[in-house]
Amino acid sequence: MRSVIDVLDLTVEELEELIKVADDIIDNPQKYSEKCKGKKLATLFFEPSTRTRLSFEAAMYELGGNVLGFSEAQSSSAAKGESVADTAKTVSCYADIIAMRHPKEGAPLVASLNATIPVINAGDGGHNHPTQTLADLLTIHREKGRFNDLTVGLCGDLKFGRTVHSLINALSRYSGIKFVLISPDELKLPSYIKKEVLEKNNLEYVQTTSLEEVMPELDILYMTRVQRERFFNEEDYLRLKDSYILTPEKLVNAKKNLSIMHPLPRVNEISVAIDEDPRACYFKQVLCGKFMRMALILKLLEIN
Ligand code: NCD
Repeated sequence: MRSVIDVLDLTVEELEELIKVADDIIDNPQKYSEKCKGKKLATLFFEPSTRTRLSFEAAMYELGGNVLGFSEAQSSSAAKGESVADTAKTVSCYADIIAMRHPKEGAPLVASLNATIPVINAGDGGHNHPTQTLADLLTIHREKGRFNDLTVGLCGDLKFGRTVHSLINALSRYSGIKFVLISPDELKLPSYIKKEVLEKNNLEYVQTTSLEEVMPELDILYMTRVQRERFFNEEDYLRLKDSYILTPEKLVNAKKNLSIMHPLPRVNEISVAIDEDPRACYFKQVLCGKFMRMALILKLLEIN
């Protein structure tokens, strides 16, 4: 029985295999429509979500399976003080696989240590979000055809943005990757990731506050929302929330084949005028997320 708590729980070979399966699902959806017949996915969401929860649910339905769960902590026994460990043990009696989102870093890990079924981390606090990274990787694969030799700009809230942390982990295993970390000083990438991932793997990276200056060299620009729910005070959030707003004017010096990504939800980070630009990939990411979650569910349930 395997869980996916961190994107590094999957080897490079396994990621490639998931991408292959997702591509095949895209081409032959019919082949997969009954693969999870009789199986149940439990979605345990202790934090708000639109894409992650609904794509997990759509993924399970498209595999012919069923879904049960809750979408807010207040409607579960967590509101009565039940522990994550007990919730995981309980849900193991009802379902075959769990997707869990929780505001506390490490909660899905605790669930996986207590569940008797696979647990997928659907986002834990400001820590990790491995299945968003699966969506991002399939998008990059379809746009660029490779994971090597790319200059990747990550822009916005690099401190609390869990999608950024997981994406850096995943890309750290390929060669020729250069990270350009664009953020206000207060929202820089945590030093534990710089030390344990970037420096340990001798990855090239630069930190800057200016998006305009680095725009011409980027192959990928990954915009992120300032994570309001992780701030200690509203004043700081209000001061920082509009640090970067991507507009068509700012793309004047960008590469013609730049891929503009965003895990969504977007607040103000990307002007809607960019949605029609062929370089905009953020709604493709949404679709890729569903197919990669289908591939992951099949893998963890050991269904071929
Ligand atoms: C992200 C998340 O929850 O971390 N959303 C998502 O799952 N696509 C990004 C965010 O909330 O800013």
